[in-house]
Order: sequence, then structure tokens, then C-alpha cells
Amino acid sequence: MVEVPNKAPAADVPAEKPSVALGADHAGFRVKDAVKKHLQAEGYEVDDVGTWSEASADYPDFAIQVANRVAEGHNDLGVLTCGTGIGMSIAANKVGGIRAALAHNPETAALARQHNDANVLTFGARGITAEQAIAIVEGFLAAKFEGGRHQRRIAKMTELDQERKYNG
Ligand code: RB5
Repeated sequence: MVEVPNKAPAADVPAEKPSVALGADHAGFRVKDAVKKHLQAEGYEVDDVGTWSEASADYPDFAIQVANRVAEGHNDLGVLTCGTGIGMSIAANKVGGIRAALAHNPETAALARQHNDANVLTFGARGITAEQAIAIVEGFLAAKFEGGRHQRRIAKMTELDQERKYNG
């Protein structure tokens, strides 16, 4: 007799949990801490680059550390939060190989992985609860890149990345 498992694995959930680099400025610090505790309780490997308090801190310092960790393969994915998530996304996207996506809810966070192969999630901590933040991060981590037509578009961005020069 063939054993039929009573619960099929969800098709879009990767088998192995990705390792995650976390970073925040002062505005995102509390939310980062809540996300970190949640991910650790769920068995994710987490590397936290700071910040460690609500003392004023500059978001690029943390964005660059997380982006470098992901670009160099120390972590699979990154999660960054500041007041709006905007500064973190701008800064992280300065690092070659990084596709940092600013998401506003679990749906856009999942689409960032599915369509854009985002390897860093950024979001705004101001005005959201720890539960909402955790849901956004879960949306991102549970999704996987769909490839296909999206791969062609990623390749075009990778080309831009490789040709990147400063035109400021
Ligand atoms: C800090 O006040 C704020 O500018 C920062 O957290 C972030 O929102 C920048 O994009």
C-alpha cells in the first residue's frame, strides 16, 4: 500500500531555511529586534549587524553591511528596516549583485522574491506593529523566485549592474 502524506509540502516554500542578515537604523531598531526573535524561534540562522539602540544612527552603515554579507554569500538574504525603508533600499542597491526591494505588505514582499528575485527586503518601521513587520518578512522568506520570463528581466538588470559607473 502506498502511504499518502496527510499534508503536502507547500509548493512555494523552499526546503531549507535561508540564512538571513538583519540591519536597522534607530527608527527600525525595535522592529528588527522583534523580527530577529521571531526568526530565531522559527529556526532561521540570523546575523544581526545592528544598530543596537534607538540612538541616532545612519542607515547606509547598516544597509552596506547587510548588502555586502549577501553579495559575498555569507547570508542568503537580507532584511533592512528604517523609518520608511526608502533609505535602506537606495543604499543597499549601491552594492553590486544586490536587488533590494521596498515592500509595504506581505504580498509585495512575496512578489519581490517571485518576480524580481530580490535578495534584500527593506520596509518602513514607522507606523507598523511588530506583527505586521513579521508578516512582511515571512511573506518574503516563504516565497521563491519563479524564473521563466522573470529570469530574462533579471539578466537585463545584472547587465546594468556589471556596466555600472558613477555619473553623478
Ligand atoms: C531617520 O530619521 C530616517 O530618515 C530613516 O530612518 C529612513 O526613513 C530613511 O530613509
